[in-house]
Amino acid sequence: MSTDATQRGGPLCAGELVALVDHKERRYLVRLTPGKRFHTHVGHVNRDDLIGQPEGSWVLTVVGHRVLALRPTLEDYVLQMPRASQPIYPKDLGALLVFADIFPGARVVEAGLGSGALTLALLRAVGPSGRVVSYEVRDDAAARAQENITAFLPDISNLTVRIADVYLGMEERAVDRVVLDLMEPWRAIPSALEALVPGGMFVAFLPTALQVHQLVNELRDTSYFRLVDTQEVLVRPWHVSRMSLRPDHRMVAHTGFLVRARKTSRRIYAEWEEKGDAVSPATLQGEEEAPPAQDGLTT
Ligand SMILES: C[S@@+](CC[C@H](N)C(=O)[O-])C[C@H]1O[C@@H](n2cnc3c(N)ncnc32)[C@H](O)[C@@H]1O
Repeated sequence: MSTDATQRGGPLCAGELVALVDHKERRYLVRLTPGKRFHTHVGHVNRDDLIGQPEGSWVLTVVGHRVLALRPTLEDYVLQMPRASQPIYPKDLGALLVFADIFPGARVVEAGLGSGALTLALLRAVGPSGRVVSYEVRDDAAARAQENITAFLPDISNLTVRIADVYLGMEERAVDRVVLDLMEPWRAIPSALEALVPGGMFVAFLPTALQVHQLVNELRDTSYFRLVDTQEVLVRPWHVSRMSLRPDHRMVAHTGFLVRARKTSRRIYAEWEEKGDAVSPATLQGEEEAPPAQDGLTT
């Protein structure tokens, strides 16, 4: 059995994945295989000692150190799972779910599958009534990712993996979100336009500002994407103890940028364009210079 976020609670089971935490709060991901030992810096633990124990139990290693057993969080898992390519880090995964407004029941197309970190986060957010379709060009990456995903979420009936180049097109239609983590997401704009519902969202994670610039320009050039915006997530951990309260000396300085845009209705826009009423993309780009609109609900 694998760890499944939907099956939390109850005693730890044979075959389940647990996070063992030592006295220095180092975490080790361990499968509770009966009859096996797990070796840590502070002596080994018999996995049988944990099977049937409640989550949060402590066990002693053979040399008498206490080790805590918890079910791993998505963050624990993503940071330690084997990699086929650079996964999106937890700080960006969390922000991306809200930035892209991934909701229960959403239909999401994703590319590339990579190591499966983003896919795991998307699958949990869309839930059993939603669907994630993930494109990946590399067979080996797709195989690795599917192993990673099922080791944490055994029920992946809401996932479809397509070994295909997303730049050549998306088979799906009436999609709520297109979420891309690959080098040239602007090459997927035409197929995303076909796939997305009006009001749907195009989201990309990009490591460099040059990629962001090209993507934003190309999204605006289509005339059909609006509310194009870009964010970067900086997380500063703090050191908190009785005698000290300060930011950590180290932090992750850069991972990537998030870019999003909403698809507007092609039909209405095209009608206006024919009549010559359409606001040109150039004028719309000039809107950036306008003062920011007042936020808030109108009555
Ligand atoms: C940075 S990794 C994605 C990591 C993934 N988001 C995660 O969190 O684990 C990029 C992946 O996109 C795949 N890829 C690149 N171009 C692609 C394309 N045109 N269509 C589908 N997949 C592509 C690569 O093979 C690679 O596995």
